[in-house]
Amino acid sequence: MMNLLISTDPYPSWIHKLELEVFGSPWGPLAPHEIVFIETPWAYARWSINLVAKEAELLRIVTHPSHLRKGKAKGLLLASDYYFKQQGVDHLLLEVRESNTAARELYQNLGWSFYRQRISYYSDGENAQLYEKRL
Ligand SMILES: CC(C)(COP(=O)(O)OP(=O)(O)OC[C@H]1O[C@@H](n2cnc3c(N)ncnc32)[C@H](O)[C@@H]1OP(=O)(O)O)[C@@H](O)C(=O)NCCC(=O)NCCS
Repeated sequence: MMNLLISTDPYPSWIHKLELEVFGSPWGPLAPHEIVFIETPWAYARWSINLVAKEAELLRIVTHPSHLRKGKAKGLLLASDYYFKQQGVDHLLLEVRESNTAARELYQNLGWSFYRQRISYYSDGENAQLYEKRL
């Protein structure tokens, strides 16, 4: 079942564990302007929201390695779209590593568009691809 977490909710230990497993380091508890869509305990999508600008940025989206290609990330992003529309947010943004084919395919297939590249953006020198979506 899908749910929404805000900064005053307890930060779930399964997210912390999954972050360690997939990225090697956890992002940590939510700031007041952040929310996370979760499908416990398999997948989450963490966003930063700016209601004044009507924008939201996807900070991270992760599915547990044992549950890939079952539509979990897609479900979280579709739920996010629905929620943001209700909140008056009409512009979504994200950046992704150039080599991350799985994530880029996911975004493109859900109507996100590439709009810019940041050269050597990551600490290991990899380029970032910037995508956006208008709701
Ligand atoms: C990217 C990621 C979140 C996708 O999660 P997922 O739950 O497996 O994705 P879904 O099953 O919802 O896939 C939806 C669509 O995205 C695309 N997609 C997902 N994984 C893909 C892959 N490995 N190769 C190509 N396309 C892929 C496909 O179009 C897929 O639809 P289909 O299965 O009907 O072909 C997952 O691979 C992941 O956690 N990666 C590691 C963390 C990461 O890099 N996150 C993104 C940056 S923060």
